[in-house]
Amino acid sequence: MHLNESPFPPAPAVVEAMQRAAAGLNRYPDHDGSELIAELARRTGAAPDHIVIGSGTNELLYASADISLDQGDEAVAPVPGFPTYAKTITMRGATHVGVAVRKDGVVDIEATLKAVTPQTRLVFVATPHNPTGGLLGMADIELLVRELPEHLLLHFDEAYYEFGRHAGGPESLPLLARRRGPWIATRSFSKAYGLAGARVGYGITSSRELADAYRKIRINFSVNAVALAAARAALDEGGHLAELLDHTAAERGRLAQGLSALGFQPLPSAANFVTVVTPRPAAEIAQGLRAKNIFVLPFPWPQTPGALRITVGTRQDTDAFLAAIRSVMGA
Ligand SMILES: Cc1ncc(COP(=O)(O)O)c(C=O)c1O
Repeated sequence: MHLNESPFPPAPAVVEAMQRAAAGLNRYPDHDGSELIAELARRTGAAPDHIVIGSGTNELLYASADISLDQGDEAVAPVPGFPTYAKTITMRGATHVGVAVRKDGVVDIEATLKAVTPQTRLVFVATPHNPTGGLLGMADIELLVRELPEHLLLHFDEAYYEFGRHAGGPESLPLLARRRGPWIATRSFSKAYGLAGARVGYGITSSRELADAYRKIRINFSVNAVALAAARAALDEGGHLAELLDHTAAERGRLAQGLSALGFQPLPSAANFVTVVTPRPAAEIAQGLRAKNIFVLPFPWPQTPGALRITVGTRQDTDAFLAAIRSVMGA
């Protein structure tokens, strides 16, 4: 319950598509991912030449830093946040300007805007946010789009997009389209589509020119043929996705309720995990769970003993987790 993976294997039709692709692995994959991109274009309404793919959205996070940052530049990212933000920024020799998320775990748009300087070249924003699950509302995204200066790249990280929409979050693309400066919204097949092991994600960009920049620097054939086939097939398995989203919301609720009863404070989560502020040092609780073979992520949370992020698993995982944490807490 540690890496925000889906607890369920891919749909049978997806596994069959991967097996068919595996039989042709003597050939290089379609570098452009044309079939996948055509289908993504049909579903999102974005032009195919505005869409880019990557070996997980991780590749696109690195690409955003490569495209926008030189030594001495600044990049703004939420803290706590997905570790790749700080890593890519630092690897470019740029300065990582961390902005604390709000108390409810949502990215703080007002503070993000205040952190921007003439040296800022890149801003990372995530919704739902990891590791908190916080979801941006429409007014937040509108404010960001209206006020963020044009001279920088906005990377809008939607790795948990499908969960956010299921929880009632706004569709971001029409809002982002109002931004005058460059932007990319990235979405992943690793989470809701249950393909974390395949490594494939995509980005929708503000213009063909920006998408060309991602295409120019992409490693040759970085998305392999099995991953391409899996992603394309997964898009047709709407029932599988809907079941996972319903299951996730139900088990997220059970986890939050069980943890509340033990004195933990859950943050509102729109992702496939629950994050709670802990009544005792989070690292110690995680250690106690580890001794019972249950892995969760402890991390610091200001002015508290810390926080734990628990990925939603199967029903049985929820039961086992709640029994284990009751025992760890001596309840
Ligand atoms: C906020 C966020 N962005 C991006 C990623 C990267 O996912 P992937 O490279 O598997 O698409 C993750 C994975 O945990 C994440 O939590």
